[in-house]
Amino acid sequence: MTASSAPSKEPSVRRESPLPSRWRVLGTLLVTVGFLLFTFSDACGPPPKFEAMEMVGKQKPSYSPGDQVNYKCKQGWEHAYTFTTTTYCELNNSWLPITDWACEKLKCPKLPTIPHCREHLVNGTIAWGHQVHFVCDEGYYLVGRKFILCQLKGARTFWSHAVPRCEKILCSPPPKIKNGKYTFSDVDIFEYAESVTYSCDPSHGEDEFSLVGEKSLYCVANGVWSSSPPECRVVKCLYPELKNGRQITGFRKKYYYQATVMFECNLGYHVRGSDTVVCNSNSTWEPPIPTCVKGPRPTHPTKPPVYNYPGYPEPREIFNEDIDAWLIALIVVTAIAGIAVCCTCLYKCIHGRKKKGLSSCHHLPEQP
Ligand SMILES: *[C@@H]1O[C@H](CO)[C@@H](O)[C@H](O)[C@H]1NC(C)=O
Ligand SMILES: *[C@@H]1O[C@H](CO)[C@@H](O)[C@H](O)[C@H]1NC(C)=O
Ligand SMILES: *[C@@H]1O[C@H](CO)[C@@H](O)[C@H](O)[C@H]1NC(C)=O
Repeated sequence: MTASSAPSKEPSVRRESPLPSRWRVLGTLLVTVGFLLFTFSDACGPPPKFEAMEMVGKQKPSYSPGDQVNYKCKQGWEHAYTFTTTTYCELNNSWLPITDWACEKLKCPKLPTIPHCREHLVNGTIAWGHQVHFVCDEGYYLVGRKFILCQLKGARTFWSHAVPRCEKILCSPPPKIKNGKYTFSDVDIFEYAESVTYSCDPSHGEDEFSLVGEKSLYCVANGVWSSSPPECRVVKCLYPELKNGRQITGFRKKYYYQATVMFECNLGYHVRGSDTVVCNSNSTWEPPIPTCVKGPRPTHPTKPPVYNYPGYPEPREIFNEDIDAWLIALIVVTAIAGIAVCCTCLYKCIHGRKKKGLSSCHHLPEQP
């Protein structure tokens, strides 16, 4: 059986294999011949190409050993260094290796010196395709482009934009405020980093004005002050009172903006909240005034303090224990009930099958 099936498959394999192997040999031969023809032919390949220079005259269809090719700098490049720009086809049919280092990229017009400005040549030179970055000295700001690019059009180079300039940072006087004033109010123009300091006028009413916000402003950029001016207004918090406790620091007649007060609870009480409060700009104590709670300070601040008093049971634990007991009882009862049901079932099943088996045995021979 194996002998009859094997020859039926083999011829198909044999018929395919001779043809490709013949072609392969032919292909290899052709490639080898081509390679030999190429390597032993009396010709160099096309002359090499360069980024900065191009050959003088037209390219010939073929070059023989001894043939010479001259190069010149391309448009946008100039002859700057004494490297050879001539190559020739050598006896082994390869071009004498040369470089295009003789040519250099054309540069843009020299940049003028810009007062109070530092120039950064991003690509190292001011040749076309290269960028220049400008940064003003401190206290000056840039008018114009931060970056300019040297560009090439035909044989000419030019800057993409006009060079910027750096101008002195100045600020006009900061805003005037109600019920207050600032220093140097007679100055018309402020220079970079110069500052003014605000203060509130004395009040003619019963409460003093509080300065809310930044007291000092600085000229940080052209026409820009460091922040908005402060306000002068009455900020007054309620007299700090603590039931079952007392104030221990910061005693005053009136509690204005940023007044700070510290509290202490009476013996047998403890502070709930912050013992230090500050009068904020909304005339409210921040954080809110604390309360004094009866009893010692809780030892475990993470647990609700009410459960920590001696003799006070923790309901959560009782609840958990109860659940555990019920769960165990339920599991035991279910298990016993399950076993009982299984036993009963098994017993009934065995008995039932014995009876059925007997009856079927009696009936079987009767059927035909
Ligand atoms: C051709 O010959 C020159 C010297 O005559 C040698 O420097 C060069 O490496 C040779 N090139 C090749 C491709 O063998
Ligand atoms: C010049 O430098 C910039 C930033 O590094 C780069 O993006 C750009 O390609 C460079 N240009 C050239 C011509 O090297
Ligand atoms: C003052 O009150 C306003 C509005 O009720 C609120 O947005 C602001 O945050 C309060 N400021 C302070 C310092 O509490």
